[in-house]
Amino acid sequence: MRYKIAVAFWVLIAAGILSMPSISYGQAQSAATSVISGAVTTDKGEIRAVRVKATDTVRKIAYTVFTNKGKYQIYNLPSGAYQISALQDGFDSTNLSVELKAGETKTADLALKAKAAKSDVELADVDTVFPPGVARDILFKECEGCHSLEHIPWQKMPHRSEENWRIAINHMFEPLPMRAIPIVSPEAVTQEQRDLIAKYFGTIFGEDSPKRDLKLSTLNVNEEEISSAVWIQYALPPAGKNAAGAEIKRRGTHDIYPSEVSSNVWAVDTNTGSILGMDRNNPDYQERWREFLLPSPNKFSVHPHGIIESRGHVFWTELDHGAIGELDPKTGEVHQYMPPTPSAPHTLRADSKGNIWYSSL
Ligand code: HEC
Repeated sequence: MRYKIAVAFWVLIAAGILSMPSISYGQAQSAATSVISGAVTTDKGEIRAVRVKATDTVRKIAYTVFTNKGKYQIYNLPSGAYQISALQDGFDSTNLSVELKAGETKTADLALKAKAAKSDVELADVDTVFPPGVARDILFKECEGCHSLEHIPWQKMPHRSEENWRIAINHMFEPLPMRAIPIVSPEAVTQEQRDLIAKYFGTIFGEDSPKRDLKLSTLNVNEEEISSAVWIQYALPPAGKNAAGAEIKRRGTHDIYPSEVSSNVWAVDTNTGSILGMDRNNPDYQERWREFLLPSPNKFSVHPHGIIESRGHVFWTELDHGAIGELDPKTGEVHQYMPPTPSAPHTLRADSKGNIWYSSL
């Protein structure tokens, strides 16, 4: 199984607390004055900082806000066709279609309904999901840097036998067809320690083990403050093919970088192996995106990972190809520089002189 690090269909570009009356989503929308507002009700529990999402179905931009005392407002929307619903785990919501004309204020009241279906995953504390012991000590010391309990989490991977866990764990330490450099140095963890972990996983996440996940504490949000924030999501273009012509089902975006010299946001797509450029001032979904497929020495993605912009050029690391890439957005020209020693470049930065520095696995 190739575990996807970033599988979100939507790429979250602009987020944060913006002071509401003066929101500007970019040039294209600065003339927007329309508003959608309403109330959210529920058949179970209380309404507290519930998310309400309005998706502009033509421009494929979604705006998400939070309720305050059961009410929400989304200001400064461009006119258009919107799909509106509330988002709350364990609940279904009304879905409304709203046509918004310039300068109009429309009301869209939404109702949440508790879902009947119960999950078969038992939520428990960390000592129940990961019983203490030598294997856990090794895991938390050697593996947690990348696999935190919520990032690439083992408890969410398909359950399997001890032997199959051993194969998967050994993958971490071996070169793979798409990656000449092992993701973890074989010197870091002995075979004996890996076997201990395989045995541990075989017991707690074996084929017949109960499905468990961590019970997280309730997030206490300040409704007053969070209700003046808006999350804007721009839909990615469909994935299409990678450089070798293989059909890729979904994108695997990872790092992004907002340009300092233009209205572009640069992003890597680890699945197709491409660099994406999004002009956030362009309201047209088709024209907003540019894609640069990166040549690969094999049939896999070069796995672009970190991305930056320096002096108007875009640079990235190629985790599985071992190269540092450079794009001139004006000409579309791409260069892939191979370092003298094979490595798996991860994160990169530019200094004031235009030199590129990178770290490597
Ligand atoms: C440097 C980061 C890093 C470290 C350290 C690391 N992993 Fe991973 N692991 C990953 C990534 C990334 C994946 C996703 C799969 C891929 O890209 O190959 C993964 C996937 C896995 C998988 C699933 C593989 C499969 O084929 O289903 C297992 C099991 C796993 N890791 C176990 C471990 C264990 C045990 C350790 C510690 C001994 C460890 N990992 C240390 C990054 C890491």
